[in-house]
Amino acid sequence: MADHVFDVLVLGSGAAGLSVALRVLEAKPHARVAILSKNALDEGSTKYAQGGIAAVLDVLDSTDAHLADTLDAGAGLCSPGAVRFAVEHAKEAIDWLIGQGVVFDREDGAYHLTREGGHSHRRVIHAADATGLAVETSLSDRARSGGAEVLENHIAVDLIREKLGGGERGRCLGCYALNRASGRVDLLRAKVVVLATGGASRVYLYSSNPDGSTGDGIAMAWRSGCRVANMEFSQFHPTCLYHPKAKSFLIPEAVRGEGGRLLRPDGTRFMDEYDRRGELAPRDIVARAIDDVMKRLGCDCVWLDISHKPADFIRGHFPTVYATCLSFGIDMTKEPIPVVPAAHFTCGGVITDFHGRTDVARLYAVGETAFTGLHGANRLASNSLLECVVFGASAAADIAGRLDDIPPPPALPAWDESWVTDSDEEVVVAHNWDEVRRFMWDYVGIVRSTKRLERAKHRIRLLQDEIKEYYDSFRVTHDLLELRNIATVADLIVRSALSRKESRGLHYTIDFPELDIVAPVQNTILVPKNFSARRHPR
Ligand code: FAD
Ligand code: SIN
Repeated sequence: MADHVFDVLVLGSGAAGLSVALRVLEAKPHARVAILSKNALDEGSTKYAQGGIAAVLDVLDSTDAHLADTLDAGAGLCSPGAVRFAVEHAKEAIDWLIGQGVVFDREDGAYHLTREGGHSHRRVIHAADATGLAVETSLSDRARSGGAEVLENHIAVDLIREKLGGGERGRCLGCYALNRASGRVDLLRAKVVVLATGGASRVYLYSSNPDGSTGDGIAMAWRSGCRVANMEFSQFHPTCLYHPKAKSFLIPEAVRGEGGRLLRPDGTRFMDEYDRRGELAPRDIVARAIDDVMKRLGCDCVWLDISHKPADFIRGHFPTVYATCLSFGIDMTKEPIPVVPAAHFTCGGVITDFHGRTDVARLYAVGETAFTGLHGANRLASNSLLECVVFGASAAADIAGRLDDIPPPPALPAWDESWVTDSDEEVVVAHNWDEVRRFMWDYVGIVRSTKRLERAKHRIRLLQDEIKEYYDSFRVTHDLLELRNIATVADLIVRSALSRKESRGLHYTIDFPELDIVAPVQNTILVPKNFSARRHPR
Protein backbone atom coordinates (compact mmCIF):
# COMPACT_ATOMS: atom_id res chain seq x y z
CA MET A 1 0.00 0.00 0.00
CA ALA A 2 1.29 3.46 -0.93
CA ASP A 3 1.51 6.23 1.66
CA HIS A 4 1.62 9.73 0.09
CA VAL A 5 2.03 13.04 1.90
CA PHE A 6 0.90 16.37 0.42
CA ASP A 7 0.34 19.91 1.51
CA VAL A 8 -3.01 20.13 -0.22
CA LEU A 9 -5.03 17.16 -1.41
CA VAL A 10 -7.82 18.12 -3.80
CA LEU A 11 -10.43 15.42 -4.35
CA GLY A 12 -11.90 16.10 -7.78
CA SER A 13 -10.68 17.58 -11.04
CA GLY A 14 -13.64 19.57 -12.38
CA ALA A 15 -13.86 23.36 -12.51
CA ALA A 16 -13.93 23.53 -8.70
CA GLY A 17 -11.00 21.24 -7.88
CA LEU A 18 -8.79 22.56 -10.66
CA SER A 19 -9.52 26.18 -9.70
CA VAL A 20 -8.48 25.52 -6.11
CA ALA A 21 -5.35 23.58 -7.09
CA LEU A 22 -4.16 26.12 -9.66
CA ARG A 23 -4.85 29.11 -7.45
CA VAL A 24 -3.02 27.57 -4.48
CA LEU A 25 -0.05 26.94 -6.77
CA GLU A 26 -0.18 30.54 -8.01
CA ALA A 27 0.17 31.73 -4.41
CA LYS A 28 2.50 28.93 -3.23
CA PRO A 29 4.45 27.59 -6.23
CA HIS A 30 6.44 25.15 -4.09
CA ALA A 31 3.48 23.60 -2.30
CA ARG A 32 2.85 19.89 -2.87
CA VAL A 33 -0.63 19.97 -4.35
CA ALA A 34 -2.24 16.71 -5.46
CA ILE A 35 -5.38 16.33 -7.55
CA LEU A 36 -7.22 13.06 -7.20
CA SER A 37 -9.71 11.97 -9.81
CA LYS A 38 -11.71 8.77 -9.75
CA ASN A 39 -11.67 8.52 -13.53
CA ALA A 40 -9.58 10.33 -16.15
CA LEU A 41 -8.51 13.82 -15.11
CA ASP A 42 -10.96 15.58 -17.42
CA GLU A 43 -13.99 13.40 -16.63
CA GLY A 44 -16.79 15.01 -14.62
CA SER A 45 -19.78 17.29 -15.16
CA THR A 46 -17.60 20.26 -16.04
CA LYS A 47 -16.53 18.74 -19.32
CA TYR A 48 -20.17 18.34 -20.41
CA ALA A 49 -21.36 21.83 -19.49
CA GLN A 50 -22.59 23.47 -22.61
CA GLY A 51 -24.38 26.78 -22.13
CA GLY A 52 -21.79 28.91 -20.37
CA ILE A 53 -21.00 30.99 -17.31
CA ALA A 54 -23.13 33.80 -15.93
CA ALA A 55 -21.30 37.09 -15.34
CA VAL A 56 -22.14 40.75 -15.70
CA LEU A 57 -20.04 41.82 -18.70
CA ASP A 58 -22.41 44.13 -20.55
CA VAL A 59 -22.62 47.83 -19.70
CA LEU A 60 -26.40 47.69 -19.73
CA ASP A 61 -26.40 44.85 -17.20
CA SER A 62 -25.63 45.17 -13.47
CA THR A 63 -24.57 42.99 -10.57
CA ASP A 64 -27.79 44.07 -8.83
CA ALA A 65 -29.78 42.57 -11.71
CA HIS A 66 -27.75 39.33 -11.59
CA LEU A 67 -28.30 39.25 -7.84
CA ALA A 68 -32.05 39.86 -8.22
CA ASP A 69 -32.41 37.12 -10.86
CA THR A 70 -30.49 34.63 -8.70
CA LEU A 71 -32.61 35.45 -5.64
CA ASP A 72 -35.76 35.18 -7.70
CA ALA A 73 -34.86 31.74 -9.06
CA GLY A 74 -33.81 30.65 -5.56
CA ALA A 75 -37.40 31.15 -4.30
CA GLY A 76 -36.55 32.93 -1.07
CA LEU A 77 -33.84 30.54 0.11
CA CYS A 78 -30.63 32.04 -1.30
CA SER A 79 -28.19 33.58 1.10
CA PRO A 80 -28.04 37.19 -0.20
CA GLY A 81 -24.45 37.47 1.07
CA ALA A 82 -23.34 34.40 -0.90
CA VAL A 83 -25.12 35.65 -4.01
CA ARG A 84 -23.53 39.07 -3.77
CA PHE A 85 -20.12 37.48 -3.22
CA ALA A 86 -20.55 35.36 -6.37
CA VAL A 87 -21.92 38.02 -8.69
CA GLU A 88 -19.39 40.62 -7.60
CA HIS A 89 -16.46 38.25 -8.20
CA ALA A 90 -17.83 36.95 -11.49
CA LYS A 91 -15.89 39.26 -13.78
CA GLU A 92 -12.63 38.46 -12.01
CA ALA A 93 -13.41 34.75 -12.39
CA ILE A 94 -13.96 35.13 -16.14
CA ASP A 95 -10.74 37.17 -16.51
CA TRP A 96 -8.87 34.41 -14.66
CA LEU A 97 -10.31 31.73 -16.95
CA ILE A 98 -9.30 33.76 -19.99
CA GLY A 99 -5.83 34.01 -18.45
CA GLN A 100 -5.78 30.21 -18.16
CA GLY A 101 -6.39 29.95 -21.89
CA VAL A 102 -10.17 29.55 -22.13
CA VAL A 103 -11.33 31.03 -25.43
CA PHE A 104 -14.87 32.41 -25.29
CA ASP A 105 -16.96 33.29 -28.37
CA ARG A 106 -16.76 36.82 -29.70
CA GLU A 107 -19.07 38.73 -31.99
CA ASP A 108 -18.35 42.17 -33.47
CA GLY A 109 -15.25 42.54 -31.31
CA ALA A 110 -16.97 41.87 -27.98
CA TYR A 111 -17.66 38.67 -26.07
CA HIS A 112 -20.93 37.16 -27.21
CA LEU A 113 -23.38 36.81 -24.34
CA THR A 114 -26.28 34.43 -24.63
CA ARG A 115 -29.52 34.37 -22.71
CA GLU A 116 -30.92 31.63 -20.53
CA GLY A 117 -34.03 31.00 -18.43
CA GLY A 118 -34.47 33.27 -15.42
CA HIS A 119 -31.90 35.86 -16.60
CA SER A 120 -33.23 39.35 -17.26
CA HIS A 121 -30.23 40.18 -19.49
CA ARG A 122 -27.93 38.50 -21.93
CA ARG A 123 -25.25 37.51 -19.45
CA VAL A 124 -23.90 34.07 -20.29
CA ILE A 125 -20.39 33.99 -21.71
CA HIS A 126 -19.68 30.81 -23.62
CA ALA A 127 -17.46 28.83 -25.96
CA ALA A 128 -20.08 27.91 -28.59
CA ASP A 129 -22.15 25.15 -26.94
CA ALA A 130 -19.17 23.38 -25.38
CA THR A 131 -18.11 25.83 -22.67
CA GLY A 132 -17.36 23.17 -20.09
CA LEU A 133 -15.04 21.36 -22.45
CA ALA A 134 -13.11 24.58 -23.07
CA VAL A 135 -12.82 25.23 -19.32
CA GLU A 136 -11.92 21.64 -18.40
CA THR A 137 -9.33 21.30 -21.17
CA SER A 138 -7.58 24.57 -20.35
CA LEU A 139 -7.52 24.00 -16.59
CA SER A 140 -6.50 20.34 -16.73
CA ASP A 141 -3.70 21.14 -19.21
CA ARG A 142 -2.47 23.82 -16.80
CA ALA A 143 -2.68 21.43 -13.87
CA ARG A 144 -0.63 18.80 -15.67
CA SER A 145 2.04 21.25 -16.74
CA GLY A 146 1.90 23.56 -13.73
CA GLY A 147 3.27 21.55 -10.85
CA ALA A 148 0.26 19.70 -9.47
CA GLU A 149 0.59 15.95 -8.87
CA VAL A 150 -2.17 14.19 -10.71
CA LEU A 151 -3.57 10.88 -9.44
CA GLU A 152 -6.11 9.59 -11.94
CA ASN A 153 -8.31 6.52 -11.43
CA HIS A 154 -8.10 6.85 -7.66
CA ILE A 155 -11.44 6.91 -5.90
CA ALA A 156 -11.51 8.36 -2.39
CA VAL A 157 -13.13 5.93 0.02
CA ASP A 158 -13.36 7.94 3.22
CA LEU A 159 -11.80 10.91 4.95
CA ILE A 160 -9.49 10.41 7.92
CA ARG A 161 -10.00 12.56 10.99
CA GLU A 162 -7.89 12.97 14.07
CA LYS A 163 -9.58 11.60 17.17
CA LEU A 164 -11.65 14.26 18.94
CA GLY A 165 -9.89 16.16 21.70
CA GLY A 166 -6.90 17.81 19.98
CA GLY A 167 -6.32 21.57 19.55
CA GLU A 168 -8.34 21.76 16.37
CA ARG A 169 -10.69 18.98 17.40
CA GLY A 170 -11.10 16.18 14.92
CA ARG A 171 -9.23 17.88 12.08
CA CYS A 172 -9.02 16.19 8.70
CA LEU A 173 -5.70 14.48 7.99
CA GLY A 174 -6.25 12.91 4.58
CA CYS A 175 -8.18 10.07 3.02
CA TYR A 176 -8.04 6.47 1.92
CA ALA A 177 -8.36 5.97 -1.82
CA LEU A 178 -8.78 2.90 -3.99
CA ASN A 179 -6.13 2.82 -6.70
CA ARG A 180 -7.91 1.15 -9.59
CA ALA A 181 -4.65 0.12 -11.26
CA SER A 182 -3.27 -1.78 -8.27
CA GLY A 183 -6.60 -2.69 -6.69
CA ARG A 184 -5.14 -1.52 -3.35
CA VAL A 185 -6.40 1.13 -0.98
CA ASP A 186 -3.70 3.80 -0.56
CA LEU A 187 -3.19 6.22 2.29
CA LEU A 188 -3.09 9.89 1.27
CA ARG A 189 -2.11 12.29 4.05
CA ALA A 190 -2.30 16.08 3.75
CA LYS A 191 -2.28 19.28 5.72
CA VAL A 192 -5.51 20.31 4.00
CA VAL A 193 -8.13 18.31 2.09
CA VAL A 194 -10.54 19.86 -0.41
CA LEU A 195 -13.72 18.08 -1.48
CA ALA A 196 -14.49 19.04 -5.08
CA THR A 197 -16.23 15.84 -6.08
CA GLY A 198 -19.24 17.31 -7.90
CA GLY A 199 -22.92 16.58 -7.53
CA ALA A 200 -25.16 13.59 -6.97
CA SER A 201 -27.61 13.62 -9.88
CA ARG A 202 -26.77 10.04 -10.78
CA VAL A 203 -28.86 9.07 -7.78
CA TYR A 204 -31.74 9.34 -10.27
CA LEU A 205 -32.39 6.89 -13.08
CA TYR A 206 -32.44 9.60 -15.75
CA SER A 207 -29.77 12.25 -15.48
CA SER A 208 -27.90 14.72 -17.64
CA ASN A 209 -24.76 13.97 -15.63
CA PRO A 210 -21.87 11.62 -16.37
CA ASP A 211 -21.66 8.32 -14.47
CA GLY A 212 -19.41 9.63 -11.70
CA SER A 213 -21.91 12.14 -10.22
CA THR A 214 -22.65 9.93 -7.24
CA GLY A 215 -22.34 12.47 -4.43
CA ASP A 216 -19.16 10.90 -3.03
CA GLY A 217 -17.98 14.12 -1.38
CA ILE A 218 -21.32 14.77 0.27
CA ALA A 219 -21.47 11.20 1.58
CA MET A 220 -17.86 11.23 2.81
CA ALA A 221 -18.32 14.60 4.52
CA TRP A 222 -21.52 13.39 6.18
CA ARG A 223 -19.82 10.25 7.46
CA SER A 224 -16.94 12.33 8.79
CA GLY A 225 -19.19 14.70 10.76
CA CYS A 226 -20.12 17.61 8.47
CA ARG A 227 -23.61 19.01 8.31
CA VAL A 228 -25.34 19.08 4.94
CA ALA A 229 -28.08 21.42 3.80
CA ASN A 230 -30.99 21.62 1.34
CA MET A 231 -30.63 18.19 -0.16
CA GLU A 232 -34.30 18.15 -1.18
CA PHE A 233 -33.54 20.61 -3.97
CA SER A 234 -32.56 18.30 -6.83
CA GLN A 235 -32.67 20.27 -10.04
CA PHE A 236 -34.22 18.62 -13.10
CA HIS A 237 -33.13 20.11 -16.39
CA PRO A 238 -36.18 20.49 -18.62
CA THR A 239 -34.66 19.46 -21.90
CA CYS A 240 -32.55 16.33 -22.30
CA LEU A 241 -32.58 14.57 -25.64
CA TYR A 242 -35.16 11.80 -25.72
CA HIS A 243 -33.84 9.00 -27.89
CA PRO A 244 -33.42 5.32 -27.05
CA LYS A 245 -29.74 5.42 -27.97
CA ALA A 246 -28.83 8.83 -26.47
CA LYS A 247 -27.20 8.56 -23.06
CA SER A 248 -27.45 11.77 -21.02
CA PHE A 249 -27.36 14.42 -23.70
CA LEU A 250 -28.51 17.87 -22.72
CA ILE A 251 -30.17 20.38 -25.02
CA PRO A 252 -28.95 23.63 -23.44
CA GLU A 253 -31.15 26.42 -22.14
CA ALA A 254 -29.58 28.69 -24.71
CA VAL A 255 -31.65 26.94 -27.40
CA ARG A 256 -34.71 28.36 -25.67
CA GLY A 257 -32.79 31.57 -24.95
CA GLU A 258 -32.23 32.04 -28.68
CA GLY A 259 -35.90 31.49 -29.51
CA GLY A 260 -36.58 27.74 -29.15
CA ARG A 261 -40.23 26.88 -28.46
CA LEU A 262 -41.61 23.98 -26.46
CA LEU A 263 -44.40 22.10 -28.20
CA ARG A 264 -46.91 19.40 -27.38
CA PRO A 265 -46.98 16.42 -29.75
CA ASP A 266 -49.74 18.20 -31.74
CA GLY A 267 -47.40 21.14 -32.35
CA THR A 268 -49.06 23.65 -29.97
CA ARG A 269 -47.01 25.76 -27.56
CA PHE A 270 -47.76 25.40 -23.84
CA MET A 271 -45.28 27.34 -21.71
CA ASP A 272 -47.33 30.57 -21.78
CA GLU A 273 -50.10 28.65 -19.99
CA TYR A 274 -47.71 27.96 -17.08
CA ASP A 275 -45.68 31.15 -16.70
CA ARG A 276 -45.71 34.66 -18.15
CA ARG A 277 -42.03 34.23 -19.08
CA GLY A 278 -42.93 31.32 -21.31
CA GLU A 279 -39.94 29.21 -22.37
CA LEU A 280 -37.63 31.55 -20.43
CA ALA A 281 -39.12 30.81 -17.02
CA PRO A 282 -36.66 29.32 -14.47
CA ARG A 283 -36.05 25.66 -15.10
CA ASP A 284 -38.02 24.26 -12.14
CA ILE A 285 -41.15 25.80 -13.64
CA VAL A 286 -40.34 24.58 -17.15
CA ALA A 287 -39.48 21.05 -15.95
CA ARG A 288 -42.73 20.81 -13.96
CA ALA A 289 -44.74 22.12 -16.90
CA ILE A 290 -43.23 19.48 -19.19
CA ASP A 291 -43.86 16.78 -16.58
CA ASP A 292 -47.47 17.95 -16.35
CA VAL A 293 -47.97 17.94 -20.13
CA MET A 294 -46.43 14.47 -20.42
CA LYS A 295 -48.61 13.09 -17.62
CA ARG A 296 -51.81 14.72 -18.91
CA LEU A 297 -51.30 13.57 -22.49
CA GLY A 298 -49.58 10.29 -21.66
CA CYS A 299 -46.76 11.15 -24.09
CA ASP A 300 -43.13 10.03 -23.75
CA CYS A 301 -41.64 13.45 -24.52
CA VAL A 302 -42.37 16.99 -25.68
CA TRP A 303 -40.68 18.82 -28.55
CA LEU A 304 -38.24 21.72 -28.66
CA ASP A 305 -38.32 23.61 -31.93
CA ILE A 306 -35.84 26.21 -33.14
CA SER A 307 -36.15 25.33 -36.83
CA HIS A 308 -37.76 28.73 -37.54
CA LYS A 309 -34.27 30.29 -37.10
CA PRO A 310 -31.84 30.36 -40.03
CA ALA A 311 -29.92 27.08 -40.40
CA ASP A 312 -26.56 28.91 -40.35
CA PHE A 313 -27.44 30.58 -37.07
CA ILE A 314 -28.35 27.21 -35.51
CA ARG A 315 -25.24 25.45 -36.76
CA GLY A 316 -23.05 28.42 -35.71
CA HIS A 317 -24.42 28.71 -32.17
CA PHE A 318 -25.05 25.06 -31.42
CA PRO A 319 -22.50 23.02 -33.34
CA THR A 320 -22.32 20.24 -30.72
CA VAL A 321 -26.07 19.97 -30.28
CA TYR A 322 -26.58 20.06 -34.04
CA ALA A 323 -24.00 17.33 -34.69
CA THR A 324 -25.21 15.13 -31.84
CA CYS A 325 -28.87 15.39 -32.85
CA LEU A 326 -27.94 14.69 -36.46
CA SER A 327 -26.07 11.57 -35.38
CA PHE A 328 -29.44 10.33 -34.05
CA GLY A 329 -31.20 11.27 -37.29
CA ILE A 330 -32.68 14.56 -36.02
CA ASP A 331 -31.93 17.67 -38.08
CA MET A 332 -32.71 20.53 -35.69
CA THR A 333 -32.54 23.10 -38.49
CA LYS A 334 -35.58 21.42 -40.05
CA GLU A 335 -37.51 19.67 -37.27
CA PRO A 336 -38.17 19.81 -33.52
CA ILE A 337 -36.05 17.85 -31.03
CA PRO A 338 -37.75 15.31 -28.71
CA VAL A 339 -36.94 16.25 -25.09
CA VAL A 340 -37.65 15.13 -21.51
CA PRO A 341 -36.55 16.44 -18.09
CA ALA A 342 -33.69 14.67 -16.26
CA ALA A 343 -31.85 15.11 -12.94
CA HIS A 344 -29.20 17.75 -13.49
CA PHE A 345 -27.85 19.53 -10.44
CA THR A 346 -27.59 19.13 -6.66
CA CYS A 347 -28.42 22.48 -5.04
CA GLY A 348 -27.72 21.22 -1.54
CA GLY A 349 -24.46 19.89 -0.19
CA VAL A 350 -21.76 20.20 2.45
CA ILE A 351 -22.22 23.39 4.44
CA THR A 352 -19.36 25.84 3.92
CA ASP A 353 -18.57 29.47 4.51
CA PHE A 354 -17.42 31.79 1.71
CA HIS A 355 -13.91 30.29 1.92
CA GLY A 356 -15.09 26.74 1.45
CA ARG A 357 -14.45 25.85 5.10
CA THR A 358 -16.62 23.02 6.39
CA ASP A 359 -17.50 21.91 9.92
CA VAL A 360 -14.34 19.82 10.08
CA ALA A 361 -11.06 21.69 10.53
CA ARG A 362 -8.77 21.58 7.47
CA LEU A 363 -11.52 20.13 5.32
CA TYR A 364 -12.84 22.39 2.56
CA ALA A 365 -15.64 21.83 0.05
CA VAL A 366 -16.05 23.68 -3.24
CA GLY A 367 -18.28 23.45 -6.32
CA GLU A 368 -21.38 21.33 -6.69
CA THR A 369 -20.45 19.31 -3.59
CA ALA A 370 -20.69 22.39 -1.41
CA PHE A 371 -23.61 24.34 -0.04
CA THR A 372 -22.67 28.01 -0.03
CA GLY A 373 -26.21 29.39 -0.03
CA LEU A 374 -25.84 30.68 -3.59
CA HIS A 375 -28.57 28.60 -5.21
CA GLY A 376 -31.35 28.55 -2.64
CA ALA A 377 -34.29 26.38 -3.67
CA ASN A 378 -33.38 26.47 -7.36
CA ARG A 379 -30.14 27.28 -9.17
CA LEU A 380 -30.19 29.94 -11.84
CA ALA A 381 -28.77 28.71 -15.16
CA SER A 382 -25.01 29.06 -15.58
CA ASN A 383 -24.39 30.05 -11.96
CA SER A 384 -22.71 26.72 -11.22
CA LEU A 385 -19.46 27.03 -13.13
CA LEU A 386 -19.36 30.53 -11.72
CA GLU A 387 -19.64 29.15 -8.19
CA CYS A 388 -16.82 26.67 -8.86
CA VAL A 389 -14.40 29.37 -9.99
CA VAL A 390 -15.38 32.13 -7.53
CA PHE A 391 -15.45 29.97 -4.41
CA GLY A 392 -12.47 27.98 -5.70
CA ALA A 393 -10.50 31.23 -5.63
CA SER A 394 -11.60 32.21 -2.13
CA ALA A 395 -10.91 28.72 -0.76
CA ALA A 396 -7.46 28.73 -2.36
CA ALA A 397 -6.66 32.14 -0.85
CA ASP A 398 -7.67 30.90 2.59
CA ILE A 399 -5.65 27.69 2.24
CA ALA A 400 -2.56 29.46 0.91
CA GLY A 401 -2.73 31.92 3.79
CA ARG A 402 -2.71 29.14 6.41
CA LEU A 403 -0.50 26.51 4.83
CA ASP A 404 2.82 27.53 6.38
CA ASP A 405 1.33 27.40 9.88
CA ILE A 406 -0.06 23.89 9.58
CA PRO A 407 2.26 21.05 10.67
CA PRO A 408 2.61 18.02 8.38
CA PRO A 409 0.09 15.26 9.06
CA PRO A 410 1.17 12.56 11.53
CA ALA A 411 1.72 8.88 10.66
CA LEU A 412 -1.58 7.06 10.19
CA PRO A 413 -2.64 3.43 10.04
CA ALA A 414 -2.75 1.69 6.69
CA TRP A 415 -6.10 0.49 5.31
CA ASP A 416 -6.95 -2.77 7.01
CA GLU A 417 -8.58 -5.40 4.86
CA SER A 418 -7.54 -8.41 6.90
CA TRP A 419 -11.16 -9.38 7.58
CA VAL A 420 -12.59 -9.06 4.06
CA THR A 421 -12.61 -11.35 1.04
CA ASP A 422 -13.28 -10.92 -2.66
CA SER A 423 -16.97 -10.72 -3.40
CA ASP A 424 -18.68 -13.65 -5.05
CA GLU A 425 -21.94 -11.74 -5.44
CA GLU A 426 -21.28 -8.70 -7.63
CA VAL A 427 -24.86 -9.01 -8.83
CA VAL A 428 -25.99 -7.52 -5.50
CA VAL A 429 -24.11 -4.31 -6.26
CA ALA A 430 -25.49 -4.04 -9.80
CA HIS A 431 -29.03 -4.76 -8.63
CA ASN A 432 -28.93 -2.25 -5.79
CA TRP A 433 -27.47 0.46 -8.02
CA ASP A 434 -30.45 0.07 -10.31
CA GLU A 435 -32.95 -0.14 -7.49
CA VAL A 436 -31.86 3.07 -5.73
CA ARG A 437 -31.91 5.08 -8.93
CA ARG A 438 -35.27 3.71 -10.02
CA PHE A 439 -37.14 4.37 -6.76
CA MET A 440 -35.54 7.80 -6.48
CA TRP A 441 -36.90 8.62 -9.94
CA ASP A 442 -40.35 7.16 -9.23
CA TYR A 443 -40.84 8.36 -5.64
CA VAL A 444 -38.54 11.35 -5.12
CA GLY A 445 -38.67 13.03 -8.55
CA ILE A 446 -40.12 16.22 -9.99
CA VAL A 447 -43.49 15.84 -8.23
CA ARG A 448 -43.43 14.25 -4.77
CA SER A 449 -45.91 13.11 -2.13
CA THR A 450 -45.44 12.18 1.51
CA LYS A 451 -46.58 8.63 0.83
CA ARG A 452 -44.04 8.14 -1.96
CA LEU A 453 -41.28 9.68 0.15
CA GLU A 454 -42.11 7.34 3.04
CA ARG A 455 -41.99 4.44 0.64
CA ALA A 456 -38.54 5.54 -0.55
CA LYS A 457 -37.38 5.97 3.05
CA HIS A 458 -38.35 2.40 3.84
CA ARG A 459 -36.54 1.05 0.76
CA ILE A 460 -33.39 3.04 1.53
CA ARG A 461 -33.23 1.72 5.07
CA LEU A 462 -33.30 -1.87 3.85
CA LEU A 463 -30.77 -1.17 1.13
CA GLN A 464 -28.39 0.62 3.46
CA ASP A 465 -28.37 -2.37 5.80
CA GLU A 466 -27.63 -4.68 2.91
CA ILE A 467 -24.88 -2.41 1.53
CA LYS A 468 -23.27 -2.11 4.96
CA GLU A 469 -23.17 -5.85 5.37
CA TYR A 470 -21.63 -6.19 1.93
CA TYR A 471 -19.11 -3.39 2.57
CA ASP A 472 -18.03 -4.96 5.87
CA SER A 473 -17.51 -8.38 4.30
CA PHE A 474 -15.91 -7.81 0.92
CA ARG A 475 -12.98 -5.96 -0.65
CA VAL A 476 -14.05 -2.51 -1.87
CA THR A 477 -14.59 -1.90 -5.57
CA HIS A 478 -15.32 1.29 -7.49
CA ASP A 479 -18.96 0.29 -8.01
CA LEU A 480 -19.47 -0.66 -4.39
CA LEU A 481 -18.03 2.64 -3.16
CA GLU A 482 -20.31 4.63 -5.47
CA LEU A 483 -23.32 2.54 -4.49
CA ARG A 484 -22.63 3.15 -0.81
CA ASN A 485 -22.46 6.87 -1.53
CA ILE A 486 -25.61 7.14 -3.64
CA ALA A 487 -27.52 5.25 -0.97
CA THR A 488 -26.30 7.76 1.64
CA VAL A 489 -27.19 10.70 -0.58
CA ALA A 490 -30.62 9.19 -1.40
CA ASP A 491 -31.25 8.94 2.33
CA LEU A 492 -30.23 12.58 2.85
CA ILE A 493 -32.49 13.74 -0.01
CA VAL A 494 -35.51 11.83 1.28
CA ARG A 495 -35.03 12.98 4.88
CA SER A 496 -34.73 16.57 3.73
CA ALA A 497 -37.75 16.29 1.44
CA LEU A 498 -39.87 14.79 4.21
CA SER A 499 -38.96 17.58 6.60
CA ARG A 500 -40.07 20.37 4.24
CA LYS A 501 -43.79 20.87 4.72
CA GLU A 502 -44.34 23.17 1.75
CA SER A 503 -43.55 23.38 -1.96
CA ARG A 504 -40.71 25.73 -2.79
CA GLY A 505 -38.47 26.02 -5.83
CA LEU A 506 -37.42 22.56 -6.95
CA HIS A 507 -39.20 20.77 -4.13
CA TYR A 508 -42.83 20.20 -5.12
CA THR A 509 -45.12 17.94 -3.16
CA ILE A 510 -48.82 17.38 -3.77
CA ASP A 511 -49.42 17.17 -0.01
CA PHE A 512 -48.18 20.71 0.60
CA PRO A 513 -48.58 22.33 -2.84
CA GLU A 514 -48.21 25.94 -1.65
CA LEU A 515 -45.36 28.06 -0.36
CA ASP A 516 -45.50 28.36 3.42
CA ILE A 517 -45.76 32.12 3.84
CA VAL A 518 -46.36 31.97 7.61
CA ALA A 519 -43.37 30.10 9.02
CA PRO A 520 -39.92 31.71 8.69
CA VAL A 521 -38.04 30.61 5.54
CA GLN A 522 -35.42 28.07 6.54
CA ASN A 523 -32.74 25.91 5.02
CA THR A 524 -33.02 22.19 5.75
CA ILE A 525 -29.97 21.35 7.80
CA LEU A 526 -29.15 17.74 8.62
CA VAL A 527 -26.74 17.13 11.47
CA PRO A 528 -24.73 13.88 11.61
CA LYS A 529 -24.39 11.94 14.86
CA ASN A 530 -20.65 12.64 15.04
CA PHE A 531 -20.98 16.40 14.51
CA SER A 532 -19.01 18.58 16.90
CA ALA A 533 -19.42 22.35 17.11
CA ARG A 534 -17.46 24.18 14.45
CA ARG A 535 -14.35 26.15 15.13
CA HIS A 536 -14.41 28.40 12.10
CA PRO A 537 -16.36 31.62 12.09
CA ARG A 538 -18.88 31.72 9.20
P1 FAD B 1 -17.33 17.96 -11.56
O1 FAD B 1 -16.98 18.73 -12.75
O2 FAD B 1 -18.47 17.01 -11.65
O3 FAD B 1 -16.04 17.17 -11.11
C1 FAD B 1 -16.08 16.23 -10.07
C2 FAD B 1 -14.73 15.59 -9.95
O4 FAD B 1 -14.66 14.83 -8.76
C3 FAD B 1 -14.37 14.63 -11.07
O5 FAD B 1 -13.02 14.84 -11.40
C4 FAD B 1 -14.54 13.27 -10.44
O6 FAD B 1 -13.71 12.28 -11.01
C5 FAD B 1 -14.10 13.57 -9.03
N1 FAD B 1 -14.61 12.67 -8.01
C6 FAD B 1 -15.86 12.43 -7.63
N2 FAD B 1 -15.89 11.55 -6.62
C7 FAD B 1 -14.62 11.21 -6.36
C8 FAD B 1 -14.02 10.34 -5.45
N3 FAD B 1 -14.71 9.60 -4.57
N4 FAD B 1 -12.66 10.23 -5.46
C9 FAD B 1 -11.92 10.93 -6.34
N5 FAD B 1 -12.45 11.77 -7.23
C10 FAD B 1 -13.78 11.91 -7.24
N6 FAD B 1 -23.27 24.76 -15.19
C11 FAD B 1 -23.11 26.00 -15.64
O7 FAD B 1 -22.80 26.91 -14.86
N7 FAD B 1 -23.25 26.29 -16.97
C12 FAD B 1 -23.59 25.34 -17.88
O8 FAD B 1 -23.71 25.61 -19.06
C13 FAD B 1 -23.80 24.01 -17.42
N8 FAD B 1 -24.16 23.04 -18.28
C14 FAD B 1 -24.21 21.74 -17.83
C15 FAD B 1 -24.45 20.72 -18.73
C16 FAD B 1 -24.41 19.40 -18.32
C17 FAD B 1 -24.66 18.30 -19.30
C18 FAD B 1 -24.13 19.11 -16.95
C19 FAD B 1 -24.06 17.69 -16.49
C20 FAD B 1 -23.93 20.13 -16.04
C21 FAD B 1 -23.97 21.45 -16.47
N9 FAD B 1 -23.74 22.49 -15.58
C22 FAD B 1 -23.59 23.76 -16.05
C23 FAD B 1 -23.43 22.23 -14.18
C24 FAD B 1 -21.92 22.26 -14.00
O9 FAD B 1 -21.30 21.69 -15.12
C25 FAD B 1 -21.49 21.50 -12.77
O10 FAD B 1 -22.24 21.89 -11.67
C26 FAD B 1 -20.01 21.79 -12.48
O11 FAD B 1 -19.24 21.48 -13.61
C27 FAD B 1 -19.55 21.01 -11.28
O12 FAD B 1 -18.16 21.15 -11.19
P2 FAD B 1 -17.39 20.44 -10.02
O13 FAD B 1 -15.97 20.76 -10.21
O14 FAD B 1 -18.04 20.76 -8.74
O15 FAD B 1 -17.65 18.88 -10.28
C1 SIN C 1 -27.74 24.59 -20.03
O1 SIN C 1 -26.91 25.04 -20.82
O2 SIN C 1 -28.92 24.43 -20.29
C2 SIN C 1 -27.28 24.19 -18.69
C3 SIN C 1 -26.89 25.39 -17.97
C4 SIN C 1 -26.73 25.11 -16.53
O3 SIN C 1 -26.93 23.99 -16.07
O4 SIN C 1 -26.42 26.06 -15.83
